[in-house]
Amino acid sequence: MDLKKLIAEKFKELYQEEPLLFRSPGRVNLIGEHTDYNNGFVLPAAIEKAIYFAISKRDDSIVKLFAYDLNESDEFEISNPNFIKGKWSNYLKGVIDQLNKMGHKYSGFNCVFGGDIPIGAGLSSSAALEAGLAFALNHIYNLGIEKLSLVRLAQKAENEFVGMNCGIMDQYINIFGKIGNVVRIDCQSLEYEYFPFDFKDISIVLFNSLVTHSLASSEYNKRREECNEGVTIIRGKYPEVKSLRDVSPGMLNEFKDEMNDVVYRRCKYAVEETERVIKACNRLIEKDLVKFGEFMYQTHEGLSKDYEVSCEEMDYLVELARKNKDILGARMMGGGFGGCTINLIKDNGINNAVENISRLYSEKYGKNPEVYITTISNGTELVKEK
Ligand code: GLA
Repeated sequence: MDLKKLIAEKFKELYQEEPLLFRSPGRVNLIGEHTDYNNGFVLPAAIEKAIYFAISKRDDSIVKLFAYDLNESDEFEISNPNFIKGKWSNYLKGVIDQLNKMGHKYSGFNCVFGGDIPIGAGLSSSAALEAGLAFALNHIYNLGIEKLSLVRLAQKAENEFVGMNCGIMDQYINIFGKIGNVVRIDCQSLEYEYFPFDFKDISIVLFNSLVTHSLASSEYNKRREECNEGVTIIRGKYPEVKSLRDVSPGMLNEFKDEMNDVVYRRCKYAVEETERVIKACNRLIEKDLVKFGEFMYQTHEGLSKDYEVSCEEMDYLVELARKNKDILGARMMGGGFGGCTINLIKDNGINNAVENISRLYSEKYGKNPEVYITTISNGTELVKEK
């Protein structure tokens, strides 16, 4: 039986009724990493890996949650989404907390959810939880929240309730993703544009290093602070600068001696990456994935050396990719400190690349990377009416 059927079955077993079923995807990001909170551009896409929510309204004010993959449940009053350190339900409670703060009127609900987005792999399972539940509740309670507000609400759930100061990319692509398309999001204006990703003989392949780093969240928040520190210094001379988006490489160079080396390198990466995404998108429009891939390698270099959010294992996966003529581009993806690399691979070279890279990786680190050949899917949507 497929996953969504299993989840719907579990729901019927627990609550003796037919649920509505929603699908909330994970994401990849082709280029534009750590640029969202610097008001730059990103180029993500929603993927086939997803979390399914089986859900129905209750007449009282109780929320009953069941995590299918963990076989664990949680229950609470709508008015009291209590934070429990380290617990999965915080991502969902954060959404309730936001809806409450916004003054929305709704009642309790029963929910079973589960999926196949690997946790800690940089595919944004947390945004899939937050934005997926926000979308589902908006639908079943007719709350009338428009798409961009759903995105913001889900991001705030993570910022304010979970405590991870993430940017807007993951929740945005979760809601706005479109089958067959990558989405260029301007994180300053919050406008977006679809670009078809319809290359017949090239696939987006992820290598999961299987490294998860407990420092990921604290280091992430630290990068944001370092970028802000840079902006404050630049603003001393250029008061019109609001974020690193407004800074050109030449302008940044003027401040090299005024900034400490770490802050300078963080800013340098972010400024360069914002320019790179624009250039890379032009290559995509010209269907030139060879040049596009070169930009991906450059991004990795910056993330590893200047931004320092990579790790030895991911550096090795990218180094191996570079040596393979069928891989047009590769880089670490997402927040960093572990998780997946994203690779553009010619279809007829995938088997060979997977075999070689897995063998060499396992010789060095004693484990095979997990490999996912992705397809680009829609953003969160209703998949089954009652
Ligand atoms: C995480 C965050 C995003 C983004 C990426 C890095 O996925 O949730 O907002 O900052 O890291 O690009």
